[in-house]
Amino acid sequence: MDDFIARLPKAELHLHIEGTLEPELALRLAEKNQIDFPYQTVEQMQAAFDFTDLQSFLDLYYASIGVVRTEEDFHDLTLAYLKKAASQNVRHTEIFFDPQSHTDRGIPFETVLKGITSALKQGQTELGISSQLILSFLRHLSAESAMETLQQALPFRDQIIGVGLDSSELGHPPSKFVNVFAEARRHGFRVVCHAGEEGPPEYITEALDLLHAERIDHGVRCMEDADLITRLANEQIPLTVCPLSNVRLCVFKTMSEHPLKRMLDAGLLVTVNSDDPPYFSGYVNENFAAVQKALNLSQDDLKTLAQNSFEASFLSKDKKQSLKSL
Ligand code: ADE
Ligand code: ZN
Repeated sequence: MDDFIARLPKAELHLHIEGTLEPELALRLAEKNQIDFPYQTVEQMQAAFDFTDLQSFLDLYYASIGVVRTEEDFHDLTLAYLKKAASQNVRHTEIFFDPQSHTDRGIPFETVLKGITSALKQGQTELGISSQLILSFLRHLSAESAMETLQQALPFRDQIIGVGLDSSELGHPPSKFVNVFAEARRHGFRVVCHAGEEGPPEYITEALDLLHAERIDHGVRCMEDADLITRLANEQIPLTVCPLSNVRLCVFKTMSEHPLKRMLDAGLLVTVNSDDPPYFSGYVNENFAAVQKALNLSQDDLKTLAQNSFEASFLSKDKKQSLKSL
């Protein structure tokens, strides 16, 4: 099965570039940038990857990204992820970046974007991996801060395909950001939204009705609302599910309790993704392998998941077809 998974052409649609920081790179950048970092070894840092909920992870995620400072650092971070993804037969990836986690510590928006996009170009030419970039607003910050961030992105409109919403979900419903997303849509950005990870099913409905999200990130708590399941299935709204993340952040106690198989059986357009791979011990293939084993997925289920990943992407119809069958 592991070989079958490795050979499947895949797209990855839920991946935070800040969450791809491997401990080795974190330690190297901390030393280079002379940043006081609480860990001296890979093992020490990995020992901290013991999370009780989303917030306990986010605290470490924001602290660790402090070592990434220069355009070259952002380039190296992104290229390392692309190499790993390409090695797992990921042919297309739609990557989140959180500009506020950098601009808030004095790093210009342009520095972040240039570092990431130069690596994306190199990924296309040298690794053959296609990519898009999604700007994600931090929902624990204010709507005003999100609006300022959107304004900073406008000069680079052609390099960013869409906008999303991430960070601490509970207490920060999509409704908080209606105006920002309306403005983003006015400028032609595609819309996705983290919802129904820790937050209730109502947040998924808000993301669809108020933000006009075209894709829901996580969305696993839709399984608590039969009418919502029917709606998501009828409208074929893609859900970018991240199984290892869900278990490591205690959304589900064990992988055998994960609803992915039930979601597939309900006719939902689900995809499998890695979210923040080093923190949750797995890139996309390890996520496929973990759900396959725990939920006894068939080769047909795995093929459906891989096909869904292209279907749910923001690629053109022709590009979807050609990447799927390469
Ligand atoms: N930022 C990075 N990973 C995230 C997740 N799983 N949920 C919300 N925000 C995030
Ligand atoms: Zn996420």
